[in-house]
Amino acid sequence: MTAAAPDSPFPVYLDCDTGVDDSLALAYLVSSPAVRLVGVGTVSGNTSTEQAARNSLDLLALLGAPEVPVAVGARDHLRKAYDGGVPHIHGANGVGGVDLPTSPHDPVDSSAARLLIDLSHEHAGALHIVAIGPLTNLALALREDPTLPSRIAAVTIMGGAALAPGNITAVAEANVGNDPEAAAAVVEAAWDLTIVPLDVTMENVLHEADRLALLASDVPAARALGAILDHYFDFYLPTYGVRSSALHDPTYGVRSSALHDPLAAAIAAGGVTPTVAPRVPVVVDTTDGPGRGQTVVDLRGQRLGAVDHPGVRTRVVLATDRPLGPHLLEVITAPATRTAPVGA
Ligand code: BDR
Ligand code: CA
Repeated sequence: MTAAAPDSPFPVYLDCDTGVDDSLALAYLVSSPAVRLVGVGTVSGNTSTEQAARNSLDLLALLGAPEVPVAVGARDHLRKAYDGGVPHIHGANGVGGVDLPTSPHDPVDSSAARLLIDLSHEHAGALHIVAIGPLTNLALALREDPTLPSRIAAVTIMGGAALAPGNITAVAEANVGNDPEAAAAVVEAAWDLTIVPLDVTMENVLHEADRLALLASDVPAARALGAILDHYFDFYLPTYGVRSSALHDPTYGVRSSALHDPLAAAIAAGGVTPTVAPRVPVVVDTTDGPGRGQTVVDLRGQRLGAVDHPGVRTRVVLATDRPLGPHLLEVITAPATRTAPVGA
């Protein structure tokens, strides 16, 4: 067990489907002085779990943290097989079609669920989980070791939609909707859970000027992220920039993207603080009807301000103290200050 001094960085296990916005979250967590990334597990979602592991390893090498262990996790979800991901959003390789320099490192020889359980023993009571893909690995870890929550300090997930619409169905957000049974297991587990839903992630945006700043950075990983974001910005054009009927209008001006996963990372690390985040009952719809994958958040009685329900461990972030974009840029373009290997 690693004891952490009060102000020393706390250990984080990241579960991800890397992924354009996952790449930003990974860069943020490696670069943030508040946390120490001690392991990464991948899951199929934006791309296959194997490709997500390759992307994570390559990014970690570029970020100067090649020694962080990466474990390949679940290829299929609890009730459905991996369906080929979303290349129209994240590119054919998950990182916008950009060829990253190949890290000489390979994934570790254990599943993501096993890596998480091992890290929970190594950092008992201190380990934070940040999960920004479908929650299959966390559900498998809970099945394999139901005592896991007792050794976890906190869990932060990007997922769900409280009052906002879904993004893969009318009500389901992708990370929850791709594996509702896993999400239900995570919501029901006895740990301190922060849900960062579409309600807030869609309101935190990176703009073309920010992307150009990344491309102009002295930090190689920041430049790679600027390139990776290009494809993602194209996808988001009809959401933030122009109506799809004007897509071919050369005068369109606004290219931007949502900051789903990095917002969860920044909230976990304390770089962004939730200002409205009541602890309220949440149920994941695992039925086969039109509500499948919905996060049903009980927000009754919140009109006059956030009210926590007694005994509820899950908080749902509905507002934050500042926009993430400028802070994210500042953290990931800061020259690397690490002097010792992460995990040393
Ligand atoms: C979530 O789905 C994925 O496509 C993104 O990486 C993010 O984790 C947003 O719904
Ligand atoms: Ca993701």
